Order: sequence, then structure tokens, then C-alpha cells
Amino acid sequence: MKKRILIVNSGGDCPGMNAVIRAIVKRADNDTNWEVIGSINGFDGILKEPLELLLLDEKRVRGIHFEGGTILTTNNKRNPFNFPVKQEDGSIENVDLSDKLFYNIRVLNFDAIIHIGGNESHKISYKLFKKGMNIVGVPKTINNDLSVADYTFGFQTAVQVATEAVDKLVTTANSHSRVLILEVMGRDAGWIALQASIAGGADICLIPEIPFTMNKIVEKLNTRYAINKRGFAIVVVAEGAYLKGKSSEINHRGIARKIANKLRNFNFEADIRETILGHLQRGGTPTAIDRILATELGVKAFELVKEKKFGTMAIHHNTEVLSMPLKEVINKYNKVNLSHNLIKTAKGVGISFGD
Ligand code: F6P
Repeated sequence: MKKRILIVNSGGDCPGMNAVIRAIVKRADNDTNWEVIGSINGFDGILKEPLELLLLDEKRVRGIHFEGGTILTTNNKRNPFNFPVKQEDGSIENVDLSDKLFYNIRVLNFDAIIHIGGNESHKISYKLFKKGMNIVGVPKTINNDLSVADYTFGFQTAVQVATEAVDKLVTTANSHSRVLILEVMGRDAGWIALQASIAGGADICLIPEIPFTMNKIVEKLNTRYAINKRGFAIVVVAEGAYLKGKSSEINHRGIARKIANKLRNFNFEADIRETILGHLQRGGTPTAIDRILATELGVKAFELVKEKKFGTMAIHHNTEVLSMPLKEVINKYNKVNLSHNLIKTAKGVGISFGD
């Protein structure tokens, strides 16, 4: 009988997810006697009635490595321990369906689950592992906020998109002598903002790791308008950035507008506009680097299943592809370390962090 792997992807999508799926299938195909199946829409596919599963053979995954999104579709609201179930009266109640998941995995003869997801997804992976599930994790996040991982796939694509946005904003900011504020994703980490600021040549970079003050922002902006009041400036702000003295309120979209309004209250003379880059950072074709990272992790994840190294995650660490216990990786976030060389580099080229 064939050994069976179930792929579940959950959380937000991320460029490179399809490349991971393809790599798992191709690696399994290169081995003997494996069958790979995908669960549609996160844990939905393996829990709903009727089941919604997709046979992932070599033919199905051919050429998907450069497609954005995920062919399995995904969901960030399908935790099997707290699963939304429609009640008879039409209301939705969250129910623990983990026993049903174990039952379905057993009767369908799955040997293991490979779970592709972000931080929150892998807390679920670990809970399932503790309950006895044969599970291996693959990290995915554009935020690059996963501890111990050098880089997560999807991140470089997001940085590329954000950098191209800065490049475009520079031309129009220059034409109108404006201050243009670009809000990028990253959740509680400033990696996308930091790298796009350096690559795009921003003047100010605001990240959650360095709380800012409006006075310092205005101080830097004034230097940009010092000659004849003409000039322009680009501010890149991470969605989780916040004012010094306030606590971090990860507001997911909106900090750029708040800063623009505050600048207007300072009677800053130049025109100010804000752009929220949003999900453009998550969509579209993964960069070559992200495809490579994703392919490496897919191959490694299959090998971890084959070696029965359950409760682990395939991860890039110190330029190697390794496995790490889920227990060690969850609950730790990879924030920008203030002694990181990129902070020194940014300061070296005159980028202000508003501190
Ligand atoms: O985790 C990736 C991420 O893109 C965050 O940076 C962002 O805040 C969040 O997902 C948005 O998620 P959604 O809009 O899909 O709920």
C-alpha cells in the first residue's frame, strides 16, 4: 500500500507556497510508493463533509512554482481546536474538531501531515503533535518574523514589491515636492520596511523595533526642504510602527494616515500623501530566491516525514536547511535586532528612524 502525505496550508498566502507544494510532490514522486494529497482551504478540506481533497501528482503540480498564491487556497480562521461550525439556527459556534481530524487522518490512511503556515499555524502544529499527530511544519511568512530562520520564503518578493513602490513614489514625490508615506506589512517586525528603505533610498524608515517621535520626523524632513523650500521625501513605515511612549498597537493598516495627519498638525508646509501597499506585497510571482528557498524546504519536509522526524519544522538556519523542534520555534519572533548590520547601513546612508 502507498504511504500518504496530507499537505495543509493555512494562514495568509505567501509567494512561494506553490513552489513548496510542487517540491514535496516531486520529491515524493522521486521516491517509491508515496501519494500526496492536498486539503483545500486549510483544515477545511479534511474536516468538512463531504471532504475536499486534491490529489497532488506530478502532473497537477507541473509549472506551479512561479504562480503566486496557493493552488490549495488557504484560510486563517480554521483552527481544528477552535473550528467555526454552522449551527442549526444558522449561527456560527467555534468547536474543538481535533478528534474528528485524528479520526479522518486515520481512516484515510494518512501517514503524516505537512503543514505550511506562519507563526500562529505552527502553534496549532505543535498542539496537534502533542496530541499524537505525525506532523512536520514548513514556515511561510512575508514578514520574516520567524525565530531562528535566516529568511522565510515570500519575504524577498515582498521586499521587491515594496522597493518598486518606493522607486515609483520617488519620481512623483520629486515632481510635486511632496512627502510621500508608504505603509508596508510586517506585523510586529520591521524587516520589509528596513530592507525596502535601504534598497529604495527612503529618507525615513519607521519600524516597530524603534519607536519614533514626530519631532524627529519633522527634523529630518526639514533637512530635505532646506534649500528654497523645495525638495521631497519618502517615508517608509511598517504597519506595526508606533510613537515613543505609546504601547505597540499593531493596527494593520492605518499608521501612514495617522502620521500624515500628525504632520499636517505640525503645519508642515509640503503636501503630504500616504499609500498603503497592502496585499500587493503578498500576491504575484515569487522571486527566484523565494522559489529556491521554498523548494529547499519542500524537499526537506518530505525527508523529515520519511525519516519520521515528526514535531519538527524544516528551516533555513545559518545558510543550511535543517530541522528544528516545533517547540523551539513557536513563540519566538524574529524582530530586527538593533545591532543588526542593516540598521548601521541604513544610518550610514542617512536614513532616519525617527528616534
Ligand atoms: O502575516 C502576513 C500579513 O501579510 C501581515 O503582514 C499583515 O498584517 C497580515 O498578514 C494581513 O492579513 P490579512 O489581511 O490576510 O488578514
